[in-house]
Amino acid sequence: MLRSTTKLFKLAPLARFQSTAAAAQPLMKKFKIYRWDPDTPEVKPKLKEYEVDMNDCGPMVLDALIKIKNEQDPTLTFRRSCREGICGSCAMNINGENTLACLCKVDKTSSKPEKLYPLPHMWVVRDLVPDLTHFYQQYKAIEPYLQRSTFPADGKEIVQSIEDRAKLDGLYECILCACCSTSCPSYWWNQQEYLGPAVLMQAYRWMVDSRDEATEKRETMLQNSMTLYRCHTIMNCTRTCPKGLNPGWAIAEIKKDIAKASI
Ligand code: SF4
Ligand code: SF4
Ligand code: FES
Repeated sequence: MLRSTTKLFKLAPLARFQSTAAAAQPLMKKFKIYRWDPDTPEVKPKLKEYEVDMNDCGPMVLDALIKIKNEQDPTLTFRRSCREGICGSCAMNINGENTLACLCKVDKTSSKPEKLYPLPHMWVVRDLVPDLTHFYQQYKAIEPYLQRSTFPADGKEIVQSIEDRAKLDGLYECILCACCSTSCPSYWWNQQEYLGPAVLMQAYRWMVDSRDEATEKRETMLQNSMTLYRCHTIMNCTRTCPKGLNPGWAIAEIKKDIAKASI
């Protein structure tokens, strides 16, 4: 008895969804998606076109990608995990803008196709998957963890005032999606030496943390012509950040702090 009640409870929402979808007229939307297969390197990258009925699909670009992969082309390759703007893995270039596919709504009102490319100016692993190895190495290079040589005598936690904690707001929320760094012209041309906005903003996050004692070492690491000063305040980074953060401001603050320290 109990088993059959459970079954009914589970089936009811699905049946409702199917009847709604069946009633709606198809709303076809085209997607042009960058494809490249490392197993056939002699074949040039191309845009492949797919059509999706948006009346039978979730509202976001990531929903459409998952539907295409499940129903039309299992070889289509992209990264995703959380599908709610937390993991940063679905970052890609959508209609000319770097953003997260899971936070980007499909424009159902336009007849123009959605154009999807991997993040620009990065090596491509396959289709929409960029190679982020160098980006992560740069992140590792700033030593993004608390560094201290002194500890409270009572052995208890290192306390932080409410005001000092507030200085981390707008910095700690970064999900390292790389949308900003890959929209920065300075990073495009100098990424072997220039750290780029995402990594620099994380460097600043540790510099302003009142519990960290390595600020001087962190600033010294940035004092050369390339690592920090390739930023020319073009602000593409801030414009594109899907989390609404301001890496261009953080970089300007680092420059200001270093200038003050050298007076
Ligand atoms: S600052 Fe924004 S765009 Fe840049 S890595 Fe962080 S979340 Fe992504
Ligand atoms: S402000 Fe600096 S980091 Fe941001 S896009 Fe411009 S040059 Fe790049
Ligand atoms: S899937 Fe995690 S941010 Fe988009």
